[in-house]
Amino acid sequence: MKPVILDVDTGLDDACALLLAARHPELDLKAVTCAGGNVGLDDVVRNTLTVLDAAGRPDVPVARGAAVPLLQPVRMARHVHGADGLGDIDWPRSARTTDPRHAVELLRDVLREAAATGELITLIPLAPLTNIALLLRTYPDATAGLREIVFMGGAAGIGNATASAEFNIWTDPEAAAIVLTAASELDVPTTMYGLDVFYDVVVTLEQARGLSGSPSAELARKLIEKRSSLYQSDGASIGDGGAVCAVIDPSGLTTQPFPVRIELSGSWSRGRTIVDTRDWSADLTSDPHGLSPTTVQVATAVDGKRYAEMWLATVS
Ligand code: BDR
Ligand code: CA
Repeated sequence: MKPVILDVDTGLDDACALLLAARHPELDLKAVTCAGGNVGLDDVVRNTLTVLDAAGRPDVPVARGAAVPLLQPVRMARHVHGADGLGDIDWPRSARTTDPRHAVELLRDVLREAAATGELITLIPLAPLTNIALLLRTYPDATAGLREIVFMGGAAGIGNATASAEFNIWTDPEAAAIVLTAASELDVPTTMYGLDVFYDVVVTLEQARGLSGSPSAELARKLIEKRSSLYQSDGASIGDGGAVCAVIDPSGLTTQPFPVRIELSGSWSRGRTIVDTRDWSADLTSDPHGLSPTTVQVATAVDGKRYAEMWLATVS
């Protein structure tokens, strides 16, 4: 089993990811940490506990993390995820409480334990990267317990929050810049599962309507129905769930190593992931910026059908 930790801002598509990570037999979900993002931190925590209950995993520790980005005010996406962040669906809420530790402390403890046992962990951030930036700068030794980071965020080609930027990076660009820099300095392999592939793992409404018979399946169906109605479509991407699929079955994801920088200023481009797809062997001496010292495996294509089938089989 692959040990994993999810960092989430649940969120309809974080919920798709949580159901998969909590139920897939090849994953050992060690912990879930929460950050403000799609909705405020209280709603994120409540949604996360609720989804884990539906998945039959009340044993997984969940911790509260950063409520706001490092530098800028919080900006939420209730227009996408509903007032409560879970699509305002009719669903019983969890009565569970969180782990007493801050998210950064829970991450630190689980990673240090992994370093001691040699069972290295894959960290899957699906939210603004605030908690992960704080972790890497506060407890860099904890990366001894990390196998890799596979994060949902950014894109080589497109934006969603703005024409330039993807929501998670746009919400906390400073955190994203810290994470990419620190991961590179600390030799943590990093994969960017961005918008270039995010929309390509689609579950049809017809497939979703076949989901029944357990709380997990029923919730999964409601999540796809909600996301489909939002986009007025006959199916919906599992969004963040695709990043979890990529950890379970990396052969379904095509990646390329590219130098990446985060745009921290710019009139129209703050929060953009600048993915350098040039031929680096050419003469770049006239470029005053040079190549970014941070190389990231950037997802460029995905076997969406295979991942959608994996998700359906697991959540049901
Ligand atoms: C990302 O932002 C959030 O809306 C989603 O949960 C996902 O993590 C997509 O831009
Ligand atoms: Ca998310």
